Amino acid sequence: MTDEPPASQGAAGAAWTEERGTSDEGRKRLKSGPEASGKTEPGGEREDRASGVAVVVGATGAIGQAVIRRLTRRGLPVVAVARGKAGLDELASDCDLVTPCPADIGSNDAIQAIGAALTGLDGLDGLDGLNGLNGLNGLNGLNGTVRMAVFAAGLPVRGSADSIDPDALAAGSNIKAGGLLRLLHAVRDRLVPGSRFVTFAGSLGLEPRAHEAGPGAVNAAVFNLMRQISLLYGPRGVTTHTLSPGPADTPRLRRIVAAVAAERGAAEEEVWQEYVAQNSLGRLPTADELAWAVELLLDPEADVLHGSVLYLDAGGHRGIH
Ligand SMILES: NC(=O)c1ccc[n+]([C@@H]2O[C@H](COP(=O)([O-])OP(=O)(O)OC[C@H]3O[C@@H](n4cnc5c(N)ncnc54)[C@H](OP(=O)(O)O)[C@@H]3O)[C@@H](O)[C@H]2O)c1
Repeated sequence: MTDEPPASQGAAGAAWTEERGTSDEGRKRLKSGPEASGKTEPGGEREDRASGVAVVVGATGAIGQAVIRRLTRRGLPVVAVARGKAGLDELASDCDLVTPCPADIGSNDAIQAIGAALTGLDGLDGLDGLNGLNGLNGLNGLNGTVRMAVFAAGLPVRGSADSIDPDALAAGSNIKAGGLLRLLHAVRDRLVPGSRFVTFAGSLGLEPRAHEAGPGAVNAAVFNLMRQISLLYGPRGVTTHTLSPGPADTPRLRRIVAAVAAERGAAEEEVWQEYVAQNSLGRLPTADELAWAVELLLDPEADVLHGSVLYLDAGGHRGIH
């Protein structure tokens, strides 16, 4: 990864200050808000919320990497989860704030693996000032809490209701719906008021198309499951957010377009342009634009988005949901 901040900006305590100047300046400006009075109101407790860690499942994907870039730029340590260890190690070698956690979110073992990675970070609590000791600088301020958990693992299945292997539908559901619950179970004891539980669920779950049975059916289940989780966790002050991208300009979509073009005997560019044409803005979202929405959720005011779906599709949705 590139463009993370210098180590001096990498401390968890420096969060919030990316667009707001230095840490002190940023805090002063924040104190001019309603919470400056010291009252604990909805949207307050910003200092408390600036601590903790993030967990990102699907860390080495195009979207996962973009999310991690933005979260670490804000000073948040990230437990990065994916199956491939090499990709995770590469992420960690690029940024001190990334802790690799190789795990298959399609297996219950992932709950223990993510829990163990979080416990490993607990041991670093209070180790600020250790600049130069194997990249541990920047990890001060961890207090055992998970500030944000993000599910962005990819779905491995394609095909229509006619052509898809029914077992593949079950496998996709195990990863996206089952995996979402595994992430929840791994972090739930560390969620505090103001923590965010976030997932990506593609627009096909809301707007079915004839040839995408897997993403359609599985993402529909994810929308429903996220609403259930919002009902369970909202009363605890933990907010849930479903981010619904349409097709995005990513290597993943390039691979899908190549497969569709080969199946149809069409040119890849022609199929690509069909995707583009579905968005009234006339272009596809980028991975970084999707990650921007995740970063937005760090703001305390994002509490009010609890339980909702954010559409990140450059005008691709047709329904009024
Ligand atoms: N790209 C798009 O156009 C688009 C549009 C709408 C929705 N989405 C959704 O956004 C999410 C991410 O998309 P993307 O483009 O970033 O996908 P991607 O580039 O294919 O990355 C997928 C990520 O998920 C990880 N992963 C896959 N299976 C896993 C498993 N069983 N356990 C743990 N990690 C696993 C992969 O790493 P390993 O293979 O090493 O495990 C990789 O880090 C997906 O949920 C996708 O359905 C994407």
